Amino acid sequence: MNSRFDQIHNHLAWHSTKWERYRGSDVIPLWIADMDFAVPPAIQDALTAHVRHGVYGYTGVPRELSPALVAYLQRHYDWNINPESVVWLPGLVLGINLAVRAACAEGEAVVTFTPVYPPFLDAAKWQQRGLVAIPLAADGMEYRIDFAALEKVLEATPNVRLLLLCHPHNPVGKVYSRMDLEDLAAVVLKHDLIVCSDEVHCDLMLDPVAKHIPFAQIHPDLAARTITLMGPGKTYNIAGLGAAFAVIENPELRRKFRLAMAHLVPDITAFGYTALLAALTEAEPWRQELLAYLRGNRDLVAARMAALQLPMTPVDATYLAWIDARRIPNAHAHFEQHGVGLSDGTPFGAPGFLRLNFGCPRAVLERALSRMTRAVGVADATRPNGVLPAPTDGTIHADSPAV
Ligand SMILES: Cc1ncc(COP(=O)(O)O)c(C=O)c1O
Repeated sequence: MNSRFDQIHNHLAWHSTKWERYRGSDVIPLWIADMDFAVPPAIQDALTAHVRHGVYGYTGVPRELSPALVAYLQRHYDWNINPESVVWLPGLVLGINLAVRAACAEGEAVVTFTPVYPPFLDAAKWQQRGLVAIPLAADGMEYRIDFAALEKVLEATPNVRLLLLCHPHNPVGKVYSRMDLEDLAAVVLKHDLIVCSDEVHCDLMLDPVAKHIPFAQIHPDLAARTITLMGPGKTYNIAGLGAAFAVIENPELRRKFRLAMAHLVPDITAFGYTALLAALTEAEPWRQELLAYLRGNRDLVAARMAALQLPMTPVDATYLAWIDARRIPNAHAHFEQHGVGLSDGTPFGAPGFLRLNFGCPRAVLERALSRMTRAVGVADATRPNGVLPAPTDGTIHADSPAV
């Protein structure tokens, strides 16, 4: 063992959602977006000290938290925020739904780019607002915003009020560049949109030269119309602790967001605050080690997918690979039958595609990739020569399970 991330844990001991799905069957789960790694020692130490204290009553926001967050965003993204603009949240799917409620009145609609993290597609339905889903343009597996399609849709659909942006983009692993964001900003201003920019994956940059630029940081006019969602859940692997936040610089938009929360949304728990503070202040060396390990895993997956002739996105951020498996009939079920549990592309708006979570020890990943190799061999051997399966219909299933 030469890395802390090689360690294999018993995930069934504490009811891991990812692992419980396949309890009792020999399927390696590479689906929901958390990692099979222990959290940074600094977070473990902070939580241990808190647990040992033994008193867990109602807990307010730790005094040190706001300054720590302001310093973190300044240090990592050169982003200066007013501490008053922060709204602490116990989760970000919640934040997406609150943004829809706060920004869209009845009869108004949300626009987003597919394929995308399914709650982006579901939130409009849950909040009884309209939804316009615009496919990203794809050049092979290189995705980009289709500005022509976006303009056309916005011209034809004047009730669109909110853009839900996934930045970096789950599942395609794309980091939007300054130019992408400036082009998007022009459209946003022209059509007077509000933006909810979900940036939860921003600390997981695998491309060493790419930089995450918060959408709200592009220009003060954008800061005034943006709800930025962030949190340590993905990067520091504490999704089970429910600690996140929104940055909303516009006081009126912030007021509407808080109004949507009122009497419904609980505070972050005592342990969530403790973990969040430790993540912001003490976990940077661990994060750097993590990124190096994830790059190795990503390269392994990319090499294997190339060998299997399964096109895959260049993963510049996140620990999620997006794979075009349309040449394998019923790919999701087929890989599951061969012992690998991936995320099905259908709820992301892309049937026939798969998302592979490579946030796991390398030995586990290698075992999963060997199983996938065997599965592709079986599929290729049974397919009539040269005949590819019929294309799927592109239906989006709104009642998608958690992914
Ligand atoms: C883009 C994005 N937003 C939000 C979430 C979920 O956040 P939370 O667990 O805080 O609800 C995920 C989880 O994968 C995600 O990828």
